[in-house]
Amino acid sequence: MKKIGIMTTGGDCSGLNTAIQRIMTGARLRGWDVYGILDGTDGLCVNPPAVIKLDDMLLPIENARLAGSFLHNGRATALNFETAAETGRTESFNKQLRKSLRALQFDALILIGGNGSLSLAWANREIYRDLQLICIPKTIDMDIPLTDRTIGFDTAVQQLTTFCDQLMLTARSHHRWFVVQSMGRDCGMLALHAGVAAGASAILIPEIKFDINKLVEHIKKSNSDYGIIIVSEGITLRGHSGRPADMISRKLTAAGIVNRTAFPEHTQRAGDTTATDRILATRFADCALNAIDNGETYVMTVLECDSVHTIPLAEFVSSGDCVSDPKIPELMTSNAYVSPDNPLLNIAHNMGIYIGEQK
Ligand code: F6P
Repeated sequence: MKKIGIMTTGGDCSGLNTAIQRIMTGARLRGWDVYGILDGTDGLCVNPPAVIKLDDMLLPIENARLAGSFLHNGRATALNFETAAETGRTESFNKQLRKSLRALQFDALILIGGNGSLSLAWANREIYRDLQLICIPKTIDMDIPLTDRTIGFDTAVQQLTTFCDQLMLTARSHHRWFVVQSMGRDCGMLALHAGVAAGASAILIPEIKFDINKLVEHIKKSNSDYGIIIVSEGITLRGHSGRPADMISRKLTAAGIVNRTAFPEHTQRAGDTTATDRILATRFADCALNAIDNGETYVMTVLECDSVHTIPLAEFVSSGDCVSDPKIPELMTSNAYVSPDNPLLNIAHNMGIYIGEQK
């Protein structure tokens, strides 16, 4: 009988509980014991480690659709990879994690994380050398290379789309525009998808240069006096500072375009998990359990052309656009962005959406 652990780290998103619940179900059908580590790595920094044995009473099926992580994702201020690096305690922190995992005697650990967590897992792989490490990618940002989707993205697109749908009605009533700022860090996937879904008039993303005068012209030339402009939180406007939506809003106001800003913020990480995300979480959970059966380690699950399978973590790290982490200079995080040949860009342009100056 195997003993496996599950840990959720990094920012939360909807779909984590589905993944946890499905892993628990599949593992228990195999006769394995499943433990959840509480609060991400925080749970490994206490003695004894903070874990709970998972069963149907603790995480019933009806709760699997809820956002957030039933296991929590950890406190930003706690001792973690970032704060340990900042205070020169990386070595002792890593030792502590390895010691706790050894004490727990896990055969395998399923780590559900974003690109930061996955890059960290590879950089500090020694921590996991006594067990099988299987990673599952999750993030609303969709900035993880080599997988067509991450858990949480579809729900975030739905949340942001619904937010814009609702604003569209008040925008219409008052003949004015809304500049909606999306999350996504420096990746424009979330803004692009929700913008197309909501029928935005313009979508500004970090990957594509835009011309503010062209945006103004586009809006003035449109046959509408209301609508939605989505700006990704990662865009910049030379010579301006502050929140991107505020910068764009000021420019529009100066050009005589009546507008307001709106910030959906963390609601993009919340909301009941969409069916698409639940199916993805279920497929990733099944794939992760099969990987444990097959004796794999240091792998991550990916969705590629509708096939779910594992790839080596090393491949994920080497294939992305690696940038150093401002908080952990020695860590290179593997990033993905909206590719210039993403078909949605062209489609958005053909539908009359201003997406910048790539054409
Ligand atoms: O990476 C997920 C994400 O929600 C980003 O889109 C956003 O920039 C960031 O996390 C927000 O982080 P926090 O929860 O620390 O405010």
